[in-house]
Amino acid sequence: MVATRPRAGWLEIHPENFLANPHAAELLVELSANYPISVHTVGISVGSAGSIDRWHLKRIRGLADRIKPIFVSGHLAWSTYRNEYLNDLLPLPYTEETLRLVAAHIDEVQNTLGRPYLIENPASYVTFQFSTMNEADFLAEIVLRTGCQLLCDVSNVVVSAHNMGFDPHQYIDDFPSHAIAEMHLGGFTPEEDEATPGSEVWIDTHAAAIDRRSWDLYAYTLQRFGAKPTLIEWDNELPSLPALLREAAYAEEIARAIPMETGHASAH
Ligand SMILES: [Fe+2]
Repeated sequence: MVATRPRAGWLEIHPENFLANPHAAELLVELSANYPISVHTVGISVGSAGSIDRWHLKRIRGLADRIKPIFVSGHLAWSTYRNEYLNDLLPLPYTEETLRLVAAHIDEVQNTLGRPYLIENPASYVTFQFSTMNEADFLAEIVLRTGCQLLCDVSNVVVSAHNMGFDPHQYIDDFPSHAIAEMHLGGFTPEEDEATPGSEVWIDTHAAAIDRRSWDLYAYTLQRFGAKPTLIEWDNELPSLPALLREAAYAEEIARAIPMETGHASAH
């Protein structure tokens, strides 16, 4: 992309791919001269019961200071246990205890990064019977306590609604829309649900084109909340760059009738 500079409003990267690779970091700095960059973290585990990895956080601050990102975001999930980094974004029970823990971690992240942090709604495959609030209310309370912003992943809503059996439109209606700074759309993969033969579980693989149901919910979300900078997430089974850019262009087409606040659809 440094050489050909295709048309894209902005790009999103995982900082963890650049921290241990000085050459890649230099390329990223070069890229940031031509494109606004959004930093999407996968190694800051705000949902872990233990403490945040401060060394990791400081390295991300260092990278952010070099590329001056438009957003820094991460998931409402946990992905570390003591010194182990797990390969999955694992779910949280939505309780008062979890609220206190996650809010304290987000405070620490925002103070160390010196920037607002965006929290993304996860794709769900299980829920906890002892949760005392729904995800939208949990996110609203997190915003209230920390002043963080939100990344609304519309495809995650579609996936979670299918897997958990709730109404995706109701979820969007309940979402704390005032805090949304960015949106995601990503492809998912239906698989046979081993626990319930004959039914499907949808997996958030980012390995396929955006499903029609995600486009439809995206249009519904924009009609309710207005357009936001939107990223196409496609990380596996990559298509050609023109095919990826066509997905971003389609998101722009849907958004065109809606006033944009700070940006355009983009891709990574
Ligand atoms: Fe996402």
